[in-house]
Amino acid sequence: MVEPDPGTPPGNGPEGDVVDANRPVAFVSDEALLDDLLKVAVAAACELERVPDAAAARQRWSSAPLILLDQAGVAGCAAESLPPRASIVVVATDPEPPELWKQAMEIGAERVITLPGAEPWLVNALADAMEGPASSTGKVLTVLGARGGAGASVFAVAVGLTALQAGDNTLLIDCDPKGGGLDLVLGAETEKGLRWPDMRLSAGRVAAASLHTSLPARRRGKAQLTLLSGARQGEAPPPDAVAAVIEAGRRAGEVVICDLPRRLEAASWTAIDRADLTVILAPAEIRAAVSARQLARELTDRGASPQLVVRGPSPGGLRADEIAASAGIPLLAAMRPEPQLAQSLERGDFHPRPRGPLTHAARATLQELAATPTRPHRDQGDLRAAS
Ligand SMILES: Nc1ncnc2c1ncn2[C@@H]1O[C@H](COP(=O)(O)OP(=O)(O)OP(=O)(O)O)[C@@H](O)[C@H]1O
Ligand SMILES: [Mg+2]
Repeated sequence: MVEPDPGTPPGNGPEGDVVDANRPVAFVSDEALLDDLLKVAVAAACELERVPDAAAARQRWSSAPLILLDQAGVAGCAAESLPPRASIVVVATDPEPPELWKQAMEIGAERVITLPGAEPWLVNALADAMEGPASSTGKVLTVLGARGGAGASVFAVAVGLTALQAGDNTLLIDCDPKGGGLDLVLGAETEKGLRWPDMRLSAGRVAAASLHTSLPARRRGKAQLTLLSGARQGEAPPPDAVAAVIEAGRRAGEVVICDLPRRLEAASWTAIDRADLTVILAPAEIRAAVSARQLARELTDRGASPQLVVRGPSPGGLRADEIAASAGIPLLAAMRPEPQLAQSLERGDFHPRPRGPLTHAARATLQELAATPTRPHRDQGDLRAAS
C-alpha cells in the first residue's frame, strides 16, 4: 500500500462548511469497532463525523462522501427507510456476523468489509473521500505501438505533457516492463519517488492523493502530471495494481494515460478494458499497417475501439489515410517526425514543441478522448472488498 501523507486531520476552520461536507459519516454503535475506525481515520488524515442515530444519519445522507455503518447502523437505516445511495460501506470486526451481507445488500451497500484485514482499503477510501468529489470523472487512454520502436512511449509522454500544459491533472502509467522506464523518456530517471516495484497495493485501492505525493511529478500552475514508471527490472505490474492506480486517477478526475508494451499480457488487458480510447501508433510503413490490423482485431474482439496515429516519414510514399485504410482503423492523426527528438531524449529534456507535430497529434488525441463517452468500468458494485 502507498501510505498517504500523515497529517493533522482538518478541523473546522473558517472553511468549516466545506470541510464538513467532505467528512465521511460513521453511524456505528459498537464501541470497539468505532475505536478501530477512528485509528484508521487518523492514518488517512481524515476526520470522521459520528452520528448517534438514523435521524442524524438522514441529515448527512445525501451530502456525505462516504457512509460507514456497523450492523446496528444498517438496521437503523433500514428502519428509518433511508433511500439507497452510493458509497455505503458496512464495517464489521472479523469474523463477519451471519446475515450481515444480506442486510447490507438490502440497504444498497457498496461493500462489506471486515477489520483488521480491510484496513488498507479503508485508509485509501477515507483519503479519497476527504479529497472531495472531482468536478468530472477522469478519462483513460491506452497507447500501444504497431511494432517495436513505433513511438508509442514518446507519444504517451507527449500526450501527458500536452494535457499538463492545458492545465489538466494527468496520471501517466508505464505498463511496459521491458520498455526501459517511462521516467527516462520524461527525463525523470534520477528523481526521487516510487516506481512500480516499490508499490504495495494489496488493498485493491489507492488514493490519488498518495500517488500525488509519492511519485515523481511535473507541475504547471495548479496542475500536476504524476508518473508511475517501471524500474528497468522487467517485471510486469500486477493487473490488480494497474486497475487500482487507473481507478484512482479516474476518481480524481484526471487524464489517465497508460503506455502499453507490444506484447499484451494481463496487466495490459486490465488497462485496455478500462480505457475510454485506445491509440495504436504506427510508422508509415506497410508492414506496420499489417501488424496494426492484427492488433486492432485483437482489441476490437475485446470490446475496444482503437484509433490510429501514423508517424512519418513514409519510406514508400504511403499517405496516412492509405495506411489507416489498409490497417482498417480510423485515422486519428498523422504526424511528421518531431525535429531534434532523438537528441532531446538523449539529453533527458524531452518536451514536445509547442507547435510541433507531436503536440498537434497529442491535442487531437486529447480532444477525441474528451469527446468519447466514458466506458462503463468494472470496479464498482462489488459488495465484498478484498480484505
Ligand atoms: N514522433 C517522433 N518523431 C521522430 N522520432 C520518433 C518519434 N517518436 C519516436 N521516435 C523515435 O523512435 C524511438 C522509439 O520511440 P519509442 O520508445 O516511443 O517507441 P515505442 O513504440 O515505445 O517502442 P518500444 O517497442 O520499445 O516500446 C525514439 O527513441 C525516437 O528516436
Ligand atoms: Mg515503448
